[in-house]
Amino acid sequence: MSDKKVVFVCNNCGNEYSRWMGKCEACGEWNTLKEVAAQDLAIVKELEDANQFGAGKLSKLSEAVFEGKRWLSGIEEWDRVLGGGMVEGSLILIGGEPGIGKSTLMIQVVSALVDSGKKVLYVSGEESLAQVGGRARRLGLAAEAVDFLDSVWLENIEKIIQEGRYNLVVIDSVQTLISSGLGGSLGSMAQIRYCVSRLMQLAKKNNITILLVGHVTKDGEVAGPRVLEHLVDVVLFFEGERSEDLRILRVFKNRFGATDETGVFVMAENGLNSVVDVSKQFLRERRVGVPGSAVGVAMEGTRPFLVEIQAIADRTQFGNPRRTSVGVDSSRLTMLLAVVGKRTGIDIYDKDVYLNVVGGFKLKDRSTDLAVVLAVVSVILEKPIPENVAFFGELGLLGEIRRVKSMDKRVGEAKKMGFERVFGPISDKKNIGVQSVGSLEELIGILWR
Ligand code: TYD
Ligand code: MG
Repeated sequence: MSDKKVVFVCNNCGNEYSRWMGKCEACGEWNTLKEVAAQDLAIVKELEDANQFGAGKLSKLSEAVFEGKRWLSGIEEWDRVLGGGMVEGSLILIGGEPGIGKSTLMIQVVSALVDSGKKVLYVSGEESLAQVGGRARRLGLAAEAVDFLDSVWLENIEKIIQEGRYNLVVIDSVQTLISSGLGGSLGSMAQIRYCVSRLMQLAKKNNITILLVGHVTKDGEVAGPRVLEHLVDVVLFFEGERSEDLRILRVFKNRFGATDETGVFVMAENGLNSVVDVSKQFLRERRVGVPGSAVGVAMEGTRPFLVEIQAIADRTQFGNPRRTSVGVDSSRLTMLLAVVGKRTGIDIYDKDVYLNVVGGFKLKDRSTDLAVVLAVVSVILEKPIPENVAFFGELGLLGEIRRVKSMDKRVGEAKKMGFERVFGPISDKKNIGVQSVGSLEELIGILWR
């Protein structure tokens, strides 16, 4: 009887339920609950627990070994996100949608490390030797010394890793790992967790660094990378619009560093290129002196950068005015436009507004409110914003300009990029070089009236 017992586990987040439901209460996804044999889940958990801390050994703090060596790859944005390179012996998960560039990033990282003398194995259950080798060659990488294994079988992969005494192993992807030691199909949550736990044991015992690639899937049929988050040392997500060349690498968990660093890349003919100077990248094609363009100082992690926001406005022909935006949350835009209408007296209710953040970046924090609004106001008034002016600040419903974090860093970045006047909120700190303004109305007055 007991061997037939089943549990339901969410393929997206790993939450468990005793009965099936259409929607996972923990992560809110639909149709992601899958049946797992209770026995299989018990095996998985036992293995995971054995890998975690808490063995009950009494120690002195002075015995602590802080962390392993760090490996710099020379790929600036990769090293930055990890807090100064990968830590030897760590398990790093990199998630992202199919086609976003995970395999490209992996081959670039491993060939950089093979160059510095590391022994590397690239395991692919998705692509052939010709495909992975061909990509490395096209990218002009010195990857000849990387060993390649096309296998999905855990037992086979373990054996090769052990015999080869590798320093670094890539598993591309975790969804294609399968072990004969457990039930469940390829890509099932139980299989993925089991295989990764086994690899983790191997890695910790032999001080091997493992990079795990995980596809973020939409359909819920195959388990996603989030079911592994509790196991690994570092969780990275690689994101961006496939139609744009911008890629952002975010860190969600890092046992050896901060989680507020972000890596910026552009995907080009020669693979992923680190964008160290983010402002320069985003302002590359800016045209000055045209109404409808404003430069905002945004922030990604600890890094401020400048971004251009463009707007056009047109008289609404019939029905409700349209508000279309790329890169800014559309309900935020609607709210900001309502503030403009209410607090400045500029007619906005009869206008369709289209907004775009140049370069494919998605603005997440509110510090770019001011630039968003000024791009729109500029186009409606048909007056350009002076070319060397930048803005930051959150806009309140009363039209007040509200404080945001790291104001001094933002001003510094804008000045570095040649923006002489930087408008922002009133600051406690003196002499940071910001031109403080209390309200949107006041700022419009300073700029144009
Ligand atoms: P890939 O690394 O295979 O994505 P993933 O492993 O996340 O599924 O990269 C997919 C896309 O990247 C592919 O559609 C083509 C593009 N690409 C470039 O634009 N330039 C390049 O140099 C490479 C290798 C890929
Ligand atoms: Mg791939």
